[in-house]
Amino acid sequence: MILYKNIGQLVTVGGKAPKTGLEMEELNVINDAYLIVENGRISDFGSNSIEIDESNFEQIIDVEDKVMMPGFVDPHTHFVFAGDRSQEFKMRLQGTPYIDILKEGGGILNTVKATRKSSKQELYTRAQKRAEKFMSYGVTTVEGKSGYGLDKKTELKQLEVMKEIDEAEDIDIVSTFMGAHAIPEKYKNNSNEYIDHLIEKVMPEVFENQLAEFCDVFCDEGAFSYQESEKLLKAADELGFKLKIHADEIKNTKAAQLAGKLNAVSAEHLLKVSDEGLISLKENNVIAVLLPLTAFSLQEKYADARKMIEMGIPVALATDLNPGSSYSQSIPLLLSLAVMYMDMSPEEAISALTINAACALDKGDEIGSIEKGKNADLSIIDAPHYNHLFYNFGVNLVEKVFKNGNLVLDNDLTKRKI
Ligand code: NIG
Ligand code: FE
Repeated sequence: MILYKNIGQLVTVGGKAPKTGLEMEELNVINDAYLIVENGRISDFGSNSIEIDESNFEQIIDVEDKVMMPGFVDPHTHFVFAGDRSQEFKMRLQGTPYIDILKEGGGILNTVKATRKSSKQELYTRAQKRAEKFMSYGVTTVEGKSGYGLDKKTELKQLEVMKEIDEAEDIDIVSTFMGAHAIPEKYKNNSNEYIDHLIEKVMPEVFENQLAEFCDVFCDEGAFSYQESEKLLKAADELGFKLKIHADEIKNTKAAQLAGKLNAVSAEHLLKVSDEGLISLKENNVIAVLLPLTAFSLQEKYADARKMIEMGIPVALATDLNPGSSYSQSIPLLLSLAVMYMDMSPEEAISALTINAACALDKGDEIGSIEKGKNADLSIIDAPHYNHLFYNFGVNLVEKVFKNGNLVLDNDLTKRKI
């Protein structure tokens, strides 16, 4: 048994279901708190005033009046890739639109070339480094998508790397099959045939080998149409995949309506979503996963989080780490953008990156909040109040990260000596 004592603020967040509306404001904070972990799970927590016999514990951790909260969950990333697209970033700065670079055979297709060439070991090394960096920002579960292979061999290679990282490293990985991320060169004028190929030849193998829980599709201009996306996702659903959609990022293609129609777990991006799309998300309990770092990097208008929250749509946040539209895994920047430019309160942003993010991965029963029986995935924030995550903007305040109760990362600079 492990006892965490002298917790200045225990931000429990609370609950197992996605928070909507005013619930997103409620973080269920306990001041001067303790927390007990047994066999990797949270077994008890409460106010310090309760007498605790310290002799019962194998380990006692003094939180020194700092903030303790659930590990962050990042429910949308593309963290397994090779290559470098910094030249494209420069082109975008000079005015070339993101989607035009893809249409010219660059963009995602550029990363596809590099990822196909890369050995599994090389891909692992690169992805593992990114996974470590996520943990240093307090992320204890991260989602990762394939989609930089677009051929069976490389799609499987990406997914196998994720599985190996999940097994070998402390961070938990939730994998998503995204063979429909772009139209490969070989099927340039034949995207329909590519969808059939994915359905017949690739998806069944991914599913049988349990390499992914979710299936996602880039339903947008320059990628896959509404009809193609529907066909693919219906087949995925029949196999047993849970569904996600990259929806209405570049243009409105009614992808949010499709997410509602197919009862997807989540719809992501939503920069160009219509009111009908939002109604469909609301009516079908689809979680809106918003990606402020992407809007920032594409210099696009941020998604209308305020409207979604007021409509009662559960909103989650994610980094979308990828080499094109969002080459960043900065949780501090993400949180700042959410409160400074998306009109979210600090409490809403925290709910969005914990419990709602966990629910966007269908893991609300296990992670995303401090509840008895949940995994003890926790972090200590070096601050007297969770507001500092926003007030002390752009700075990583995560001091320690615990996975199943065990210390897995320590950023404490005061203890570092060369
Ligand atoms: O979420 N929109 C499609 N996929 C990614 C970008 C991937 C890339 O550019 O490499 C996204 O923005
Ligand atoms: Fe994405």
